[in-house]
Amino acid sequence: MQNPSQNENPLADLHDWEADLVRRYPEPDKPADAFRNYGDDTRPGVREFYHLNHRYQCVEFVCQKREQFLPLRQRTMSIWEAMEFLNTLVDDSDPDTDLTQIEHLMQTAEAIRADGHPRWMILTGLIHDLGKVLCLFGEPQWAVVGDTFPVGCAFSDRIVFPEYFAENPDWADARYNTPYGIYEPNTGLDNIQMSWGHDEYLYQVVKDHLPKPALAMIRYHSFYAGHRESAYDHLMNDHDQEMFHWVRLFNPYDLYTKSATRPDVEALRPFYQELIDEFLPGTLAW
Ligand SMILES: [Fe+2]
Ligand SMILES: [Fe+2]
Repeated sequence: MQNPSQNENPLADLHDWEADLVRRYPEPDKPADAFRNYGDDTRPGVREFYHLNHRYQCVEFVCQKREQFLPLRQRTMSIWEAMEFLNTLVDDSDPDTDLTQIEHLMQTAEAIRADGHPRWMILTGLIHDLGKVLCLFGEPQWAVVGDTFPVGCAFSDRIVFPEYFAENPDWADARYNTPYGIYEPNTGLDNIQMSWGHDEYLYQVVKDHLPKPALAMIRYHSFYAGHRESAYDHLMNDHDQEMFHWVRLFNPYDLYTKSATRPDVEALRPFYQELIDEFLPGTLAW
């Protein structure tokens, strides 16, 4: 199978290629449709996680968190320090993995590397979840991880557990509960406030250092209602649609590489340290 990032149209055969990736990273007894399974047999912790997430992620909350964290005044850390710092965390929202955070990051990056993608994309795989350090700054997991979605307009019923939005203060707010809400049609995601979490936070930390497709992968990788369900096309512009090809290219590496095989973190470290030094040297403001 051809490498999608080297084709004339890299994304034309994404679906075949996604299926191929699933075949290459099999997990015993885990068919592809078992990933992101939020049906009746979902772990109770995952359901409760989304209950809290959907109840509290409203316009006012998002504004408050942006004011609190986006000055990036928590601390300064190198990428590797952030990886080690993050490694103590277990993600309650994720039904698919028991790997440590560093193992998940390296597994994602190694799968991207094995397919011959550009170095910036390998690095994106390595760092894409580092925004989860928010949890270690005392934030509850429902305000850090899980699927993201726009606030300020109606919540799509294609978001996981949409029934829990009935408890969100914006649900009954006439300013926010129409398809466009406070936004103009096709205004572009740059003008949209997303629910607060690790995607937006890491994007803000690295936004001056990586190419646009890498930034889109980081900023929208948890926006499943957008990149998988196409539930917010009415707010997106042509540039967003172009960037979402890249987000979709990235997604299977994040999702389907969560297999039981653990990467050898110490052996891989020199390669990744060099990659970090190429794009994100020294310390960053978090
Ligand atoms: Fe993530
Ligand atoms: Fe991830």
